[in-house]
Amino acid sequence: MTSAAGSNRSSRIAGFHKLSPRDRLDLVAGFAGLDEAQVAHLANMGNLDPMLADKLIENVIGTMNIPVGVATNMKIDGEDVLVPMATEESSVVAAVCNAAKQVYETGFFTSVSGNLMIAQVQAVDVADPAGARIRILEKRDEIKAACDACDPVLVSLGGGFRDLEVRLLDTPSGTMVVTHLIVDTRDAMGANAVNTMAEKLAPSIAAWSGGRVYLRILSNLADRRLARARAVWKAADIGGEAVRDGIVSAYEFAAADPYRAATHNKGIMNGISAVVLATGNDTRAVEAGAHAYAARSGRYSSLTTYEVDKDGNLSASIELPLAVGLIGGATKVHPTARACLAILGVTTAERLARIIAAVGLAQNFSALKALATTGIQKGHMALHAQNIAMMAGAVGEEIDRVARLLVERASVRMDVAQKVLEEVRGN
Ligand code: MEV
Repeated sequence: MTSAAGSNRSSRIAGFHKLSPRDRLDLVAGFAGLDEAQVAHLANMGNLDPMLADKLIENVIGTMNIPVGVATNMKIDGEDVLVPMATEESSVVAAVCNAAKQVYETGFFTSVSGNLMIAQVQAVDVADPAGARIRILEKRDEIKAACDACDPVLVSLGGGFRDLEVRLLDTPSGTMVVTHLIVDTRDAMGANAVNTMAEKLAPSIAAWSGGRVYLRILSNLADRRLARARAVWKAADIGGEAVRDGIVSAYEFAAADPYRAATHNKGIMNGISAVVLATGNDTRAVEAGAHAYAARSGRYSSLTTYEVDKDGNLSASIELPLAVGLIGGATKVHPTARACLAILGVTTAERLARIIAAVGLAQNFSALKALATTGIQKGHMALHAQNIAMMAGAVGEEIDRVARLLVERASVRMDVAQKVLEEVRGN
């Protein structure tokens, strides 16, 4: 079935997209010289029906399994929630559990600014941009009617066009007239809905502006769809005032320095992207929105804030755009995403966004606490050691034994793991 990779390989494979996943896999195996074990591994699509996988994206040959863990101890707006998280990174789920445990008594409080998405229509070569802006704004009723006509189901669910904005952007090729359609997309992430509206409106906007329209697409800077969470960790519950002050100082470092803020926010996204992925939502959309929002002042900064409240406790909060949905795309059709949504028990996109914001805050709290005290390597290495043990070939009970010995010897390395495994097997 497989053949060694030849030197005259061509990536131009006519009709590749029309083949079945299995036939594509055989071709790829021949091209790349995969061995039988690799082919068998890729052919096993686990709990995702190959027919469905083949519909989700193009040119499918296999699936990629990522562990789904569940964060415990989360109480959000007075309600206990178990949060499924899909991630390949060790410590991420544990970090959320630990942070939530230390604030379980009161839990997290959350809110959202709305479900509004923005679609942009770019007009160029406009002779009178200021006049064009006013002409487009005059058409608000017509624009609303056209947008709502694109999606009667959305309108029947209480969503649809909400607002209109026209911005003038100075660019090297002249002033662009950029129209924002602001649409309530309810429980959908909304990309399809608003992109359809933008495309529909484009010819009219070209006519009203007297220019030419190029791009018609949503903005991932969904700053009218903000999710917020806050929590107060009692100083006594987190190791005292020194720990509290270390966390505040870590936050102030991120707030002041983009180099640190990038890592700080990466930690937040460890939690956020894991829930976004587990629920079949678009991780890249959420990540783009989060980082753009973090730079909204003109300088990239922290998505969270930490302060000492009047009682001497640690008051923490997060605010970021969270464009997630419960309908459409993988959220609706991927069985793992459906099951994860069932675990969460959410019935609205708003509730999902609120939970995700709380997870981001919990994740960040744990990272800052570890960094401001023992450092992250101690906890991280214990879990990382298990991965290294498995990579070295440990199986079953060997994994824990090898991992423990690696940590004891303070040497979590592949070469050491191989030697330790030999020792363990020799015993
Ligand atoms: C590692 O994936 C995430 C951290 O680097 C986050 C942070 O530094 O705040 C630990």
